[in-house]
Amino acid sequence: MTRILVVDDEPKLGKLVAEMLELDGHELERATSGRDALVRLAASRFDLVVTDLRMPDVDGLAVLRAARALPQPPDVIVMTAYASAESAVEAMKAGAVDYVTKPFSMDELRLRVRRLVSQRGAEAREARLVARLTPELVAESPAMRAALQAARQVAATDATVLLLGESGTGKSQLARFIHYQGRRAAGPLVEVHCAALPETLLEGELFGHEKGAFTGAIQRKAGHLAAADRGTLFLDEIGEITQPTQVKLLRFLQDRRFVPLGATEERTVDVRVVSATNRDLAGAVAEGAFREDLFYRLNVFAIAVPPLRDRREDVLPLAERFLAARGLPPEKLGPSARERLVQHRWPGNVRELENVLERALILAGEDELRAEHVAPGTAQRARRVGDLLVEGFSLDALERELLHAALERAGGNKTHAARMLGVSRRRLYSLLASHEGEGGPEPDAP
Ligand SMILES: Nc1ncnc2c1ncn2[C@@H]1O[C@H](COP(=O)(O)OP(=O)(O)O)[C@@H](O)[C@H]1O
Ligand SMILES: [Mg+2]
Repeated sequence: MTRILVVDDEPKLGKLVAEMLELDGHELERATSGRDALVRLAASRFDLVVTDLRMPDVDGLAVLRAARALPQPPDVIVMTAYASAESAVEAMKAGAVDYVTKPFSMDELRLRVRRLVSQRGAEAREARLVARLTPELVAESPAMRAALQAARQVAATDATVLLLGESGTGKSQLARFIHYQGRRAAGPLVEVHCAALPETLLEGELFGHEKGAFTGAIQRKAGHLAAADRGTLFLDEIGEITQPTQVKLLRFLQDRRFVPLGATEERTVDVRVVSATNRDLAGAVAEGAFREDLFYRLNVFAIAVPPLRDRREDVLPLAERFLAARGLPPEKLGPSARERLVQHRWPGNVRELENVLERALILAGEDELRAEHVAPGTAQRARRVGDLLVEGFSLDALERELLHAALERAGGNKTHAARMLGVSRRRLYSLLASHEGEGGPEPDAP
């Protein structure tokens, strides 16, 4: 429903305009002078004002300026005499969206109003969609508040953002937040998991490829960069990309140009880049595993997403949010469970918290959640190595403990866990396989 104010000091014309627009289902109010219009504008909210320009005392331009100065300014269409084209120009400069010259046909005015209303409707729908897609992030702790504030500030720009933090801290959510709070919200958000694909496939997916560019390229493919045009490209787990892909990505970041695999011509896209990693990228640069020049291109605006153990104020609000999303009241979380949750170290961060709660809801059924329901499966593993030398303990058991501890610390990320233990990923897998079925938690993929 559109609320329209028609302002004309010629009562007959004003009445005619109002009645005609009412036929289109709008809600109409009429003012018979500029002064009357100002009073009505102050008293209630309008979506649109259709005003005559030439009126004694307070003229249409004054009505227009007053309308545009409101906190939620209505659009304004002015009606002007044919003879005074310059006043129409002046009105447009002052913020009118459209004008009709008198004498005008009712259909002409009606058409313009319709066009405007449908455009406003589209904008409102878009705004609602964006509001719905923007993640609502819990940020009670100073650390998370700072991260969110930084995200909000950088969202309004086109700057390249690097999100740093452990697995499960909320990097992906923050990337979405940045996209939907920014100028590109109406454009596409393309998320690419750099670790999930082998090198050649990743390049093909990113840059696109021509038919027959490599074995298996049966069809031409546009690629993620092209898909993200006028939007945001989110490169998740950027720390995992190989050297050749690093080179290509660097070239792309320099001028937003790229050549799809097997193609001869360059393409250009307008893309904002947000990337994320749980690796210590600066460390990887120092070790020569990650290109320094690429690191600097990505690291224009870095946001550190703190681990959950450094923002304990967030734990209970996160838990309550999780319950609320399932239609459960905060009281579902009993005092003993609360205490337990706040104390835990959360090596797997928010994701671990969600998993623990998911499991707790199953265990508790209709009961309130108590400490035993939320006991994180691996919470009691933090012993000193020396403490393990008790009767019946073995090297084998120690190995198993260490594997679990590393996986827990790495939030289930096997690449990380392997690095922590100083073994290859392959060796980690074989160690895990050899301990399989001996109890302990099944670590999450990736
Ligand atoms: N601040 C937060 N508020 C609410 N939910 C969060 C928050 N941070 C993370 N989550 C939730 O935790 C889970 C892991 O977040 P995600 O963004 O995937 O982490 P990451 O990308 O760092 O691994 C998701 O289900 C996400 O919705
Ligand atoms: Mg993620």
